[in-house]
Amino acid sequence: LWLALGIRRRQAGEPVIENGFIPYLGCALQFGANPLQFLRSRQKMYGHIFTCKIAGQYIHFLCDPFSYHSVIRQGRHLDWTKFHFATSVKAFGHDSFDPRHGYTTENLHQTFLKTLQGEALPSLIETMMGHLQDVMLKSDRLSPSEDQWQVDGIFAFCYKVMFEAGYLTLFAGLPIHVFKSAYSARENLAKTMHAENLSKRHNMSDLISMRMILNDSLSTFNDVSKARTHVALLWASQANTLPATFWSLFYMIRSPDAMKAAQKEVRKVLRDSGLTMNPDEPNMLNLSRDQLDNMPILDSIMKEAMRLSSASLNIRVAKEDFLLHLDNQEAYRIRKDDVIALYPPMVHYDPEIYEDPYEYKFDRFLDEKGQEKTTFYRNGRRLRYFYMPFGSGVTKCPGRFFAVYEIKQFLTLMLSYFDMELLDPAIRVPPLDQSRAGLGILQPTYDVDFRYKRKENH
Ligand code: HEM
Repeated sequence: LWLALGIRRRQAGEPVIENGFIPYLGCALQFGANPLQFLRSRQKMYGHIFTCKIAGQYIHFLCDPFSYHSVIRQGRHLDWTKFHFATSVKAFGHDSFDPRHGYTTENLHQTFLKTLQGEALPSLIETMMGHLQDVMLKSDRLSPSEDQWQVDGIFAFCYKVMFEAGYLTLFAGLPIHVFKSAYSARENLAKTMHAENLSKRHNMSDLISMRMILNDSLSTFNDVSKARTHVALLWASQANTLPATFWSLFYMIRSPDAMKAAQKEVRKVLRDSGLTMNPDEPNMLNLSRDQLDNMPILDSIMKEAMRLSSASLNIRVAKEDFLLHLDNQEAYRIRKDDVIALYPPMVHYDPEIYEDPYEYKFDRFLDEKGQEKTTFYRNGRRLRYFYMPFGSGVTKCPGRFFAVYEIKQFLTLMLSYFDMELLDPAIRVPPLDQSRAGLGILQPTYDVDFRYKRKENH
């Protein structure tokens, strides 16, 4: 009967299993309603590791941050590609990227490292800075004026600026009808990304140019499939960046101390590099990678915003039966094809690691010297994994450096060119929309209005 119902029974040495009451779905509804609460209550009952059936899949949740390294570092038994490739194929409808499936021999991981990190960064940063200023100051998208406040939702504002500037940075020319119709319409977007359209554009990023070449030379994808791989990348580059930008700007504006400290830092960086902000001459502001690296206050403002809003599930699939060793010397049997998951909010909201974890403290990631704080403890032991909005180990987001730079550039420009304030300074923090839990940075359930106007030219 157990087998007929698709229900697994725990065997000796395995974590406790919860099959849930609903066939197939298992615990999916309870988990989906509030993942953090669900996992915490199970951790209390079962300990550091337990297994839940969620939508047909058995998932081992590992809840002890001191044991994370045994999953993150121990790649031998664990496969990360299986899960990643399968999700992208399902969401975007392109052929599989898994070389074992025979459609392509491209090593996507390598493509990302080459085109989004290291030497690729300075040109991405420079291009993004130009586009941000174009959208903020020149285009008719915002039409900010000096003498009149403009009112907008913070999310709506961030979306307009970051989507357009980010799109232009990776894909060059923006097909305007993408904006007029729903931008999220997958097939419309894909049409704009057929090779014949993309190849007409100048100044495309290395990422997309290289992916076009590799699609042509290493894959048997047809044109539609190729275009869909680009849509998948557009999604990856925007889906987390937009809400992360929202939360960073929202929390910064809402906290007068954060605003003051950030303004001071921005002024200092501009002064030290001999830059002046002249709103009448936009596109003049350019910050090097070094200058951007030297803004610990903005870093902390963003980190704290992402600590509070990130809900990415870190997933690995077992390649074979093996024994998972935990930090407390216990070991558990894991079966081939089972999924092991880490849920970073368990760490991000742990009151022993972050005091008053639900409160936004803009300087939480600064040490006594005002530099980046990297020492966090639990039970007196220093933690290696305390902040994971970008994932972990080999599957860590390859765009994370660029993401931090682009949001920092955005905040710097907002502080340099605009006065801004919340319409209701006492507004409560909007709740997180849990419908995307597991995927990354969550959106607010509703937008928050603010007003902005161009700083007067001194
Ligand atoms: C994957 C977070 C911005 C490109 C991921 C993953 C996370 C993440 C959690 C999955 C990692 C895993 O499965 O363990 C974020 C956050 C961002 C951000 C929080 C902004 C604040 C970006 C940007 C780009 C980008 C700007 C590109 C320009 C990618 C790609 C992947 C990815 C290509 C898939 C990697 C793979 O499948 O190997 N990101 N990301 N991300 N991200 Fe980001």
